[in-house]
Amino acid sequence: MKKNLILLLLLGLFFKAGAQNVSLKKGWKLAIGDSPEWSSPGFDDKGWQNADVSKSWELQGHPSYDGFGWYRLHVVIPSSIKEKAYLKDSLLISLGSIDDNDEVYLNGTLIGKYGGRGGDIKSSHYGPRSYKIAANNPAILWDRENVLAIRVYDTGGDGGMYGSNFNVHMADIMEGVHFDTNSDFSYGDKNSLGKSIKIVTANRYAYKGTLSFTVTDPETGAVILSKKTDTAHFTAGTPFSWWFTFSAAKKRSYLITYTFKDRRSGVELSETETTPYILTPALAKTPKINGADVFGVRPGHPVLYLIPATGLKPLTYRAKGLPSGLKLNPATGIITGVVDKEGSYPLVLTVTNRKGSATKKFTLAIGDNIGLTPALGWNSWNAWGLSVNDEKVRTSAREMAQRLSAHGWSYINIDDGWEAEKRTDDGKIVANSKFPDMKGLTDFVHGLGLRMGIYSSPGPRTCGGYLGSWQHEDDDALTYGEWGIDYLKYDWCSYGEIAPHHPNLDEMKKPYQVMRSSLNKASRDILFSFCQYGMGDVWNWGAEVGGNSWRTTGDITDTWNSMSGIGFSQDKAAPLAGPGHFNDPDMLVVGKVGWGPSLHNTRLTFDEQYTHISLWSLLSSPLLIGCDMGHLDRFTLSLLTNDEVIAIDQDALGKSARQYIKKDGYQVWVKELKDGGKAIGLFNTADKYQTISLSKTNAALKGYTKFRDVWRQQNIAAVGGSIAPHGVLLIRVEK
Ligand code: GAL
Repeated sequence: MKKNLILLLLLGLFFKAGAQNVSLKKGWKLAIGDSPEWSSPGFDDKGWQNADVSKSWELQGHPSYDGFGWYRLHVVIPSSIKEKAYLKDSLLISLGSIDDNDEVYLNGTLIGKYGGRGGDIKSSHYGPRSYKIAANNPAILWDRENVLAIRVYDTGGDGGMYGSNFNVHMADIMEGVHFDTNSDFSYGDKNSLGKSIKIVTANRYAYKGTLSFTVTDPETGAVILSKKTDTAHFTAGTPFSWWFTFSAAKKRSYLITYTFKDRRSGVELSETETTPYILTPALAKTPKINGADVFGVRPGHPVLYLIPATGLKPLTYRAKGLPSGLKLNPATGIITGVVDKEGSYPLVLTVTNRKGSATKKFTLAIGDNIGLTPALGWNSWNAWGLSVNDEKVRTSAREMAQRLSAHGWSYINIDDGWEAEKRTDDGKIVANSKFPDMKGLTDFVHGLGLRMGIYSSPGPRTCGGYLGSWQHEDDDALTYGEWGIDYLKYDWCSYGEIAPHHPNLDEMKKPYQVMRSSLNKASRDILFSFCQYGMGDVWNWGAEVGGNSWRTTGDITDTWNSMSGIGFSQDKAAPLAGPGHFNDPDMLVVGKVGWGPSLHNTRLTFDEQYTHISLWSLLSSPLLIGCDMGHLDRFTLSLLTNDEVIAIDQDALGKSARQYIKKDGYQVWVKELKDGGKAIGLFNTADKYQTISLSKTNAALKGYTKFRDVWRQQNIAAVGGSIAPHGVLLIRVEK
């Protein structure tokens, strides 16, 4: 929603300042394949298919297509767009997002390109694209028809050019100026919030003007606070910083709009964000045991299980019924050892501190089925992308041990970017210089009671262009075993070059079967996470091929469109989830994300983040945190440590919620739970406040009498209420 608002405000800006823009949303043509002639303005593209640039080419008749494709558009660029712009020297062409890399031709001239690592168009660099060119560049035909031709290369998963921001406009005085709103909110007494923002530019122009700030109630539209300062001055290297506080009347999100107006040019820039509100209650000092009720390990394989418990430290741990071969460290709560005999071992766990003690029944299932509840952990990709390194992984592990493992979080997964460029002479995979000691790193992670995950591709190269496991599957599984790896994400990527162009089901299964049999040779449990973006409806066969989870979609990003588009389309796969094999709608986009070295606060609003965690928990998805763990702010931490919410994800029945009601502005999803209860998500998908309820006579509630608001951890009288735009009410019902 924030994005929509910004867009609206920006549109407002165009009208106010008159810096008109030419929409590039409609009229595109698309061809799959590659030819140098397709950049030429004279090429006849009439026979090409009409393209819809709001969606990937997979959704336009090219399922599972990876490789080159071209988009072409004929568009008149009127010189009138220069007239009202304050600065008239450059033109900006925005092309939504490109998945993954592109070259842009204007009337046959290459005016820009974007490649992956080392400029190689074949390595993945999915993301938004804007190209700036001088207004006097002879490639621009002012007031005449221009031909824009975009050559796109997709490495894997969704591909093409798609998104919402498609236009041409003058790069005016506010181009290259932005509000830096990335600092964390601070929380005072009585719902008061504080924050520092900056206005930043790399332009040498001396901006001078007013900064106004308004807080709006999103339900009524009433402006509840408005402030203005005349002293906003900034230029390259000297941002303007401003600290504000305000007291929120209710526990909900408010809209804050910042507007800077430059005095000399009269041009304005606005941005809107929402304010956080924390629902998760503070932790009690008395002990409490959290996490799943069951954990599976194969016979003869090492057990590593940290009993997740909160309460005033020090805590002392005990376990009754531990099978022989296992021991529990009473001070750390870490269970280690090996059990040879298959069986279901009922344990009673006890945790004590000076405030009291807590017990919990727990089952250790020694057998072939592992990953009985969805993995809870961290993965480096959405935060660090290919810039992940040893230090970042250690920081994540330390933070998880300190703040999250008490709630059941346990995997530390390195995504793409750890692998060397070349194998050793005897074919062994080695890490690159960012990971000087993979075994040492794994030992460190294990020492904290956590587990270690890694990433590879069945192709010769990963999506990031590093070494894949092609024809070295046994070697790699052996190395992972030696290092102590507990989880493998296996990403299709360049396997597209090995498999036939339109692989059939057997061909899609093959690389996963090969790695499955290699992993079976390792003498430890390695959860197997398929990443092939849902090709061939993987949910129908992922379990049979030995996957513990499988991605059902292309890559997520931190917008409402992406998150809700993925989350609310999971019903088709839902019946196939079960203990040991789960649908994976991709990793979490809460906290500070960035897919590279520089991070930003997720662009999801706070209500959208509640929706994200609620929906993923209802879907029994692996929950893989995708943010910088070294900077977990208070809100993000509260999202990730609500034990009643996590318990829905970790419910031992392992069923996914089903879509129960789907209407234009709202949806209801219902998940059956092991204790006979249900978890119900009422989602407001509209842009305005709505009251959404299920009456007590509704079939979903028949026989249920106890209702609980899960985020607030409070019993409630009825299932429903007033829900914020893109927000949720997550409810647990019992008989
Ligand atoms: C993508 C995958 C992402 C990430 C990336 C690494 O294909 O979907 O989750 O792993 O590759 O290059």
